[in-house]
Amino acid sequence: MLNDALRSVLLQAAKSSRLRHVVETAPVSRSVVRRFVSGTEASDAVAATAQLRRDGLMVTIDHLGEDTTEQAQADDVRDAYLVLLRALSDAGLADGGRAEVSLKLSAIGQGLGPDGPKRSTEYAREICEAAAAAGTTVTLDMEDHTTTDLTLDALSELRADFAWVGAVLQSYLRRTEGDCRDLAGEGSRVRLCKGAYAEPPSVAFTDSGEVDRSYVRCLKVLMGGQGYPMVASHDPRLVDIAGALAVRHGRAQGTYEYQMLYGIRPDEQKRLAAAGESTRVYLPYGQEWYGYLMRRMAERPANTAFFLRALATKG
Ligand code: FDA
Repeated sequence: MLNDALRSVLLQAAKSSRLRHVVETAPVSRSVVRRFVSGTEASDAVAATAQLRRDGLMVTIDHLGEDTTEQAQADDVRDAYLVLLRALSDAGLADGGRAEVSLKLSAIGQGLGPDGPKRSTEYAREICEAAAAAGTTVTLDMEDHTTTDLTLDALSELRADFAWVGAVLQSYLRRTEGDCRDLAGEGSRVRLCKGAYAEPPSVAFTDSGEVDRSYVRCLKVLMGGQGYPMVASHDPRLVDIAGALAVRHGRAQGTYEYQMLYGIRPDEQKRLAAAGESTRVYLPYGQEWYGYLMRRMAERPANTAFFLRALATKG
């Protein structure tokens, strides 16, 4: 109950420009934010990637952006990905997909008018070309349910030329088990997560037990399929179940992977990697870190306590 109230306060806070200013300018913010966000520049993301690689972890990098409302913003985001991919390649980090990128189609203009979906797919294609040149891959993030079909359409268009493009599916959506079946074929890369947007019960399970049970049903489909499942969750129970399903389906390590967010359960990330499991960290960077940080707080009150404690002791 308290958690629900805190969650909605934090999700509101994510939209408040006044609070944003307070958090951004608090003396301690920089060091606390650094726990969850690698920095504001591509060079920060590259440096954090190099460190994670030294720890035996793979990486997917997300350029943080909020609400792309003009074409010029979409152009900037596309350019940021092109710069990032070049920097990863120059640093020798992209090879073999060990560091790849995650991309939100809304950030490159999917929602900008009737031509938005077509133009954003073209921008995504340019980013895929740069990823191919760097020897790595791209995964399309999934956003709210009104964009699911558009994003899956873009995925299928892009996969015609770049078979390795991955997609995210969200177990809270009622449709997702079916989408998993459609995407469980050879060569397909699916990142399965619970889902992070506020969705209506008409399209989504709202009870956390139902979301978890859906996650397991989806995992069964993906692990039993021919594709490459990417298990994106910090939930210890789901991590265990994924491991058991991999064994049951005779999958060798490296034919699936675990994924967690930067700064969340870092010891578990290293433990999985040390046990020989392919483990990838979702690493955000960019100027627009505030909304991302607030959503992470909303997911887990313990993160908020950590942040407030740091503000109180060092601020
Ligand atoms: P949940 O938040 O329900 O936590 C379950 C359990 O995990 C907790 O009870 C606790 O035991 C443990 N746990 C969680 N956080 C912890 C912490 N900080 N410390 C210790 N234990 C902790 N969403 C989306 O809608 N579209 C997308 O494209 C993506 N992409 C994406 C990529 C990757 C790699 C990840 C990991 C996640 C996403 N997400 C996402 C976000 C996702 O949908 C979801 O909101 C978060 O991952 C939180 O869900 P969990 O599965 O981690 O479980």
